[in-house]
Amino acid sequence: MIDPIGDTLVARDELRAKITELGARISADYQGKDLVLVGVLKGAVFFLADLARTLTVPCAIDFMAVTSYGSSTDSSGVVRILKDLDHPIEGRDILIVEDIIDSGLTLSYLLKNLRSRKPASLEVCALLTKPERRRINLDCRYIGFEIPNVFAIGYGLDWDERYRTLDHVASVREEAIAELTRA
Ligand code: IMP
Ligand code: MG
Repeated sequence: MIDPIGDTLVARDELRAKITELGARISADYQGKDLVLVGVLKGAVFFLADLARTLTVPCAIDFMAVTSYGSSTDSSGVVRILKDLDHPIEGRDILIVEDIIDSGLTLSYLLKNLRSRKPASLEVCALLTKPERRRINLDCRYIGFEIPNVFAIGYGLDWDERYRTLDHVASVREEAIAELTRA
């Protein structure tokens, strides 16, 4: 089997520095607010855990799991909730924490769904974004890194449920994808 771990897209030190910077901005923006971090399972777990520990304001943490119909590397925009939030969010300040925005379809669905629950505010913090792939315009207040149009793994991102535990973000090597489609 070809080793699928390709070029480093975001190194470990860059992740750490960016998360510290995002945490400082969020801490300043949410002073005196009723912040709830909503993590999107499972990709955002590592990012959320590191980000939350840089915050100097109190926050609650809740999770949602969604699945989007489509192939493993392409989302269709039709989203199903696998696990909903544990608590109501009406009147609270919601920050969705996402691993990556690709087409934007998943996030667009989540924003619409959560907005209907009447939070006091609703914003997005995404670690990564692939601008070339965007199919829908989204307002995302906090963004970590823009990456090129490649399939990324590591720091929460999976390729068929593997490689989430890599300590940096890497691309999947083209040869590994080709090998898989040949099999
Ligand atoms: P979207 O609906 O097309 O924006 O897809 C968003 C979801 O697809 C993300 O939350 C990820 O779980 C997954 N995803 C998109 N691009 C990648 C990638 O490069 N690597 C791993 N997962 C990805
Ligand atoms: Mg995923």
